[in-house]
Amino acid sequence: MVHDVTGKARWQAWLEGGAADEITLRENEAAWQRLRLRPRVLRGLDGSHLRCTLSARTLPHPIFVAPMAHQAALHPQAEAGCAVAAAALGAGFVLSCQSNTPMEDIARLYLADAGRGALWCQLHWLHTREACLAYLQRAADAGFEAAVLTLDAPVQGFRDRERASGFTLAAGTGNANLPERPEHTLAELLAAAPTWRELAWLIQRSPLPLWLKGVLHPQDAVLAAEHGAGGLIVSNHGARQLDTVLATADALPDVAAANGGRLPLLVDGGLRRGTDVLKALALGAQAVLVGRPVARALAADGARGVAGALRQLLDELTIAMAMCGLREPAQAADAARAGDFFARLPVNAINSRLS
Ligand SMILES: Cc1cc2nc3c(=O)[nH]c(=O)nc-3n(C[C@H](O)[C@H](O)[C@H](O)COP(=O)(O)O)c2cc1C
Repeated sequence: MVHDVTGKARWQAWLEGGAADEITLRENEAAWQRLRLRPRVLRGLDGSHLRCTLSARTLPHPIFVAPMAHQAALHPQAEAGCAVAAAALGAGFVLSCQSNTPMEDIARLYLADAGRGALWCQLHWLHTREACLAYLQRAADAGFEAAVLTLDAPVQGFRDRERASGFTLAAGTGNANLPERPEHTLAELLAAAPTWRELAWLIQRSPLPLWLKGVLHPQDAVLAAEHGAGGLIVSNHGARQLDTVLATADALPDVAAANGGRLPLLVDGGLRRGTDVLKALALGAQAVLVGRPVARALAADGARGVAGALRQLLDELTIAMAMCGLREPAQAADAARAGDFFARLPVNAINSRLS
C-alpha cells in the first residue's frame, strides 16, 4: 500500500471539496443545524439502547461508514483500517468499488468481529450489465450482505477546489477490485448511462439486495419500490456531484412521505453530530451514513482515529436521545409525528410529510 505523495493540501482538497461553488456542501451541514429540537422530560430512560432494525436485521446502532474511494490516499491502512474500526464499533461498513484493498480482505477482517454491523459493497454502473452482475456475485461470494448502486454519478461532478489543488492519485493507489478503466469521454459516459430498464434487469438477477444511493426526488423513491430495490439512500454524494442541489435534510421528508415505509430508508450528507443523526431518524431515516468525518479520522490516526470518531458520534447520539426523552432510535420518528420533536417546523407539516 503506497501512501499518497501528492501532499496534504492536495488530498485535503480532494476529500473536503465539493462540486463547483460548494453551495450544497455548506448547505448539507447547515440544513441539519437549522432544525431545533424540542425535548420531552420525565419519560423514563431505563433500558435505553441504540439498536435498530433494517431489512429484518437487528444492528447495534444506526450508523454506517459511507463508501469512499481510494482510502490509501489518506492512510496506509486504507479501507482495512476503516473496516476494522467500523466492525469494532458496531458500525455498518460500505466498501467503495474504487477501493484500494481487495474486497475479500475487507470481508475477512470485518466479518471476524462478532459485534459488527452490516457489510455492504457499493458500485457505480460498470458500463455493462454483465460487469455489474459479475461484481455483485464476487461480493456475495466474499460475504457482503447487500450492495449499494450509486445513481448520482453517471458523469463526474466538476470539483473546482480539487482541480485547483492539482490532486492526483499516487502510483500504487490503483483499484484493487476492478480492472483499470480507460478514460471515457463525456459522450461515452452519456451513451452508457443506465436507465430503470437496466436497473430492473440487474435487480432480477442480483444475488444481493440492491440499495439505490443518490435518490432525492420523491417520484424516484416510488419507482425504486416498484422496481424491487432493496432500499433507498437519500444522498447528494456529499455535495461532490451537482452544486446547488438540495441538502439531504431538506430532501428526506418528502422522500420518506412518498416512500411510505415501503423500502428501508437511509440518508447521508453533512451529518456531523449525534444531534444530526437523531434529526435524520426523526425525519424518517432508519439509519445514516457518515463520510468525511470518518475519512478525516482515518487520515489522522488510522483505525484508532476512526474508532474514536465513531465512539464520539455514538456517545453524542446516546446523550441527545436521552435529553429528548427517547429510549431507542425507532422512537424518534414517532416523536416527530406526534409533534414532540422539532420546535421550528409546524406539527402539521411534519405529520403530512411522515404519515
Ligand atoms: C473522498 C470521498 C470519496 C467518495 N467516494 C465515493 C464512492 O466511491 N462511491 C460513492 O457512492 N460515494 C462516494 N462518496 C460519497 C459518500 O459515500 C457519501 O455520500 C458522502 O461523503 C456523505 O457526505 P459527508 O461526507 O458530508 O458525510 C465519497 C465521498 C468522499 C468525501
